Order: sequence, then structure tokens, then C-alpha cells
Amino acid sequence: MQPFELVIRDIRDASPLIREFVLEAPSASALPTFSAGAHLQVQIPEQQDHRCYSLIVTDPAHDWEAAPQQYRLGVRLEEDGKGGSKFMHQLKVGEVIEVVGPINDFPLEPAQTDEKDIVLIAGGIGITPIASMAHTLSQQQRPFTLHYSARAQNQLAFKDELSLLLGDRLVCYTNDENQFDLNALFDTLTPDQHIYVCGPQGMIDAVLAIGSERGWNRDHIHFELFITASAQEGDQPFELELRLSGLTFTVPADKTILEVLEEAGEDPMYDCNRGECGVCTADVLEGIPDHRDYFLSEKEKASGKVIQICISRSKSPKLVLDM
Ligand code: FES
Repeated sequence: MQPFELVIRDIRDASPLIREFVLEAPSASALPTFSAGAHLQVQIPEQQDHRCYSLIVTDPAHDWEAAPQQYRLGVRLEEDGKGGSKFMHQLKVGEVIEVVGPINDFPLEPAQTDEKDIVLIAGGIGITPIASMAHTLSQQQRPFTLHYSARAQNQLAFKDELSLLLGDRLVCYTNDENQFDLNALFDTLTPDQHIYVCGPQGMIDAVLAIGSERGWNRDHIHFELFITASAQEGDQPFELELRLSGLTFTVPADKTILEVLEEAGEDPMYDCNRGECGVCTADVLEGIPDHRDYFLSEKEKASGKVIQICISRSKSPKLVLDM
């Protein structure tokens, strides 16, 4: 996909940490259509990198078939992040950003006959793709409930417009009032229901674990993480050899294989940068991968023959890839 420019037409604070951006083509021409769950890749200058931000739709009049005049993004400021959200939060109205997309790695399944209530779960900034899904399901008159949790009332970004759009199909939870209890929610569900969840890693892991315990087929649980790779306690540097190109590197504890390769001027393929999409898969020739992705199957992980270089590391002091 070719990058293109968008100009920032409006900015507002949707919560103390989440800023909303309204974007248009510089010529004000119509933009490519997209479906609920889609994101834009925003290029982060000076980092040779991009961040993925979901497109949010809550306008009841939005027509998914028509080319839109504007896009809306919600971006949470991550003080400990790698700079993408800080770049976004310092932007001003009238400035131009470069994007690729829209791309949808988190689509809704088509409607089925006798469809059971679809369960939408959003944690914090995870509301952005989930809100668009709720909008689509509402327009398609499909059965669903949106469970939206945040730490406090003022962190429930877009809550007012979602309440107007969804009425009692929106259920909100906050730590101080009505704490979200996943086990209690699962008590009300059956494994033939589809679940779409977006939020922090702990929330996704908990939904996957509880769903698995309670008999959910993995392909009924759809998710998108809102994180990029972050160092874990005990992470060690390791040596990386690219056998085909004959290059060797040291991957420090606080960097990913992908980051090290990009800094060295290599141009590896990737998209989500969080271990979900599968674009960055590499073959392992030697060494033991430390898998941290959500893309490879348990069998593939156990084989040790492939790795997602955007997020996974090495358990052995040296890793040799077929690159
Ligand atoms: S870039 Fe998506 S899994 Fe690595």
C-alpha cells in the first residue's frame, strides 16, 4: 500500500489520556472506505517506524459503503512508550501526517442465521475498534452487548456518544464503582457466542484463558492488542545471526529483533508490531525462540522453527535466522 498524507482538522481530549484526531485529505477529497476494526499505520518521523491506530466511528449517520470525508483516531498517551503516542499528542491542528491504510486485521465475522448475542469487550483505549464494531452491528441490527471498562469514569473515552448510539447495549465498568468481573460475565455466556476483545494484554490473556477453561473454540474469540513489545523482567541480550545475508547483531534486552534490524538499515516486513498479524514471521535455523506472539499455533511454537521478530526473543545466547 502506498503512504499518503492527511491533514489534522480537529483535536480534542476524549479523556485525560486519550486524544481524538479528526483527519482529512489535504485536498478535502474523499478517503478510502474501511470496515469496523480497521486501523491506520501512522509514520513516526525520525523513528523509521509506524504505529497502528484504530479508526473510530460513532456517528449514527455514518454510511460504511460511502467514501468518508474524514477519519477519526483515538490515541492514548503512553508515558513509558517508545514515542509514537508522544509524537501524536504534540501534533497541532493543520499539521500533516503520513499514513498507510486503512488495514483491517480485526474484522467482524459475517452475520449468521440465528445469531447469538455478540460479546464486545473493550478495556481503555481498546474502545476505538470496538466502538466501530458496535456501530456496524447496530446498523446491521445484529444482537450484541458492549462491555467497556476503564479505571475511572473520566477515562471512559467516547462514553457519551456511545450511550446515545447504543442505549442499554452499552455496559460500563470502572474500578471505583462497578468493577469489571470477567468470570461473572462468562457465567452469563455460552461457548457458541463470538467474543471480540481489545485492550491491555492482561485483559486479552484473561479472556483467552477463561474462554479456554470454559470450552470456547479459539476461533470464537477475536482480539486485538493495544501494545507493542516491551521488555520483561529477566530479558537478556542475545546474539543474532542472519545466515543468508551473513550479518550478526547483538539484540539488547530493551530492543526487539525488528528494531535492531531497522536501526541497522535492514528493511524487514512487518505490520502490527505486536505479534498478531504474522507478517514478520522468520525461519529459525539455530537457537531456541522465546515466543511472545499471539499468531503462531502452540504446535508451531513448540517446533521452534519459526519466530515473530517484532515481539519474540531468544532463550539461547544465539539465534540464527534464515534471512
Ligand atoms: S508484525 Fe505482526 S506479528 Fe510481527
